[in-house]
Amino acid sequence: MKRGLKAISIMVVVVLLAMAAAACGSSANKVDVGIVLPTKDEPRWVQDEQRFKDALKGTNYSTEILFSQGSSAKEKDNVDSLVAKGIKVLIICPQDGDAAAAAVEGAQKAGVKVISYDRLITNTSAVDYYVTFDSVAVGKAQGQYLIDHAKGKGEPLYLYAGAASDNNAFLFFQGAWSVLQPKIADGTFKIANSSEAVALQGNSTLTRDQESKIIGQITTNWDANEAKNKAQTNLTAAAADMKGDVAILAPNDGTARSIADVFASDKAVTSYVVTGQDAEKASVQYIIDGKQSMTVFKDVRTLVKDAMGMAVSLLDGKTPETTGSYNNGKIDVKAKQTNVIVVDKSNVKSALIDSGYYPASDFKGLQ
Ligand code: GAL
Repeated sequence: MKRGLKAISIMVVVVLLAMAAAACGSSANKVDVGIVLPTKDEPRWVQDEQRFKDALKGTNYSTEILFSQGSSAKEKDNVDSLVAKGIKVLIICPQDGDAAAAAVEGAQKAGVKVISYDRLITNTSAVDYYVTFDSVAVGKAQGQYLIDHAKGKGEPLYLYAGAASDNNAFLFFQGAWSVLQPKIADGTFKIANSSEAVALQGNSTLTRDQESKIIGQITTNWDANEAKNKAQTNLTAAAADMKGDVAILAPNDGTARSIADVFASDKAVTSYVVTGQDAEKASVQYIIDGKQSMTVFKDVRTLVKDAMGMAVSLLDGKTPETTGSYNNGKIDVKAKQTNVIVVDKSNVKSALIDSGYYPASDFKGLQ
């Protein structure tokens, strides 16, 4: 009997130790906030990762950042693995806005709050909040820059857009079209590379379907190589009256640099003005060197601060502050929005260097 008791108490101790070890193990793996970003192949998202790391240094909550590498299947695996680690909040920038619905629906079912980051997840009710820049303003700023730097009348206008799977590509194009269309109508610009845009050039606003038709022709898929090939094809097909001084709507910096290189190497192109977005370091250098005309600076530090602020409010059981809402095709998602800044050669130093965003030593020829 005594021996039996001893055996039982040993067993109890063993079980307790095993339970303690398991608890320790799970708390070591436990993650409070999961962050999922689209790809490491575009500098924009590597920049966001770094800004998240900088912002997370002083926090008490545990976080983990995973990349989807351009694959919605990998994105879903990432979300599932974070949910399995017990996350309470998911901050996710979708690779494909529609396809990400399945991933976040699973997370929401598990009780996780979902914050869509920079890009809106579309056609699902499983998005709780959205942190974003003012994407329509990005497109407007790009279009306005081309207008402000137009040379006379009848200037050829080359249009390029982001990926149709990214809701932002529509918002950027919508903003650009809102200012460019009146200038196409009054003859300042003539559209050089999209028959769908020409067919719709009398419309001051476009439906989503009409935007889809145009974007279908002018998409770069956010891919610098695809942008380069498309620009080459466009210039090969262009008649002489579509060269000379030209204006180019390029949706972001990665595509702007490759499109600019193609236009710069065409002898029949006398000058070009090309837009961009993201203030990527390589494009800041292009602006200093006069190879890219402008970029739209989106201060990622603010977006990261807003996303983490929202996550912490949710973890603390509070309601996050929002400034408006975005319809995602299914519901209105409460959103916090941040303004953007136009940067060209004239303010590159004050906006990006003096503000502490980038060190001057990263660039050559800065004045
Ligand atoms: C957009 C984003 C831009 C740009 C692009 C390509 O959704 O808002 O900043 O980087 O994707 O990744």
